[in-house]
Amino acid sequence: MRKPMMAGNWKMNMTVAGALDLARQIYRLVGDTSVVEQLLCPPSVCLHPLKAVTDDMPFLLGAQNCHWQESGAFTGEISPPMLRGLADYVVLGHSERRQLFGETDETVNKKTHAVLAHQLNPIVCVGESLEQNERGETSSTITAQVRAALDGLNDEQVQSLVIAYEPIWAIGTGRAATAQTAGDICGLVRAILREMHGAAVAGATRVLYGGSAKPDNIGAIMEQSDIDGALIGGASLEAESYAEMVRITARVYSG
Ligand code: PGA
Repeated sequence: MRKPMMAGNWKMNMTVAGALDLARQIYRLVGDTSVVEQLLCPPSVCLHPLKAVTDDMPFLLGAQNCHWQESGAFTGEISPPMLRGLADYVVLGHSERRQLFGETDETVNKKTHAVLAHQLNPIVCVGESLEQNERGETSSTITAQVRAALDGLNDEQVQSLVIAYEPIWAIGTGRAATAQTAGDICGLVRAILREMHGAAVAGATRVLYGGSAKPDNIGAIMEQSDIDGALIGGASLEAESYAEMVRITARVYSG
């Protein structure tokens, strides 16, 4: 069975002090639940201090991006070897990176290979724009993005990554996809995995939904058989709403 994951994408929010405080608050509210994987993805400067403080808390840590090279003249960038020991996961190809920072399917693929080569787990984000959605191009867009991101990976590598379906029109808008639609597209992602890597790999790989996920809708989203968790932006910045989403998910999975 795939373990559900609640991944908080804090984006460019939180100072180091604020990040430590938020993690402690979440821990106080949720305690030790082993049913749900709790992943915190703070700004990269917070990873080291958070790691020190959360070592005995049930959190995994994730970075929000990285470069594909190991080192070199790339001012402002962070490489996979630098994240080793600090992060378990690296979010790649988030739509904000694609839209605002020139990320392409090709760079997402390079980063996915680089992250895996350094024993980190990628969370590869895919998602269609509002225009693509309205033109009926959701399936073709998602298929192309998943195929491009995973190009050249072997079965074992694919099983250790996570794919997040995040429709761009749902991110930060308060307008989430319906649970049914989110479930259908995550099912499409799984079908693509099956086609590329067979049923066993497709059955073992986690697929998340992201885009205005919150306590109100997470229960219905997590009821979908092809959805294994959520990538949560806004609602992960408040300890109580993130904690509530972890609790609801734990109930769905134990009930
Ligand atoms: P949101 O962000 O939950 O605020 O919509 C999700 C994301 O960007 O990962």
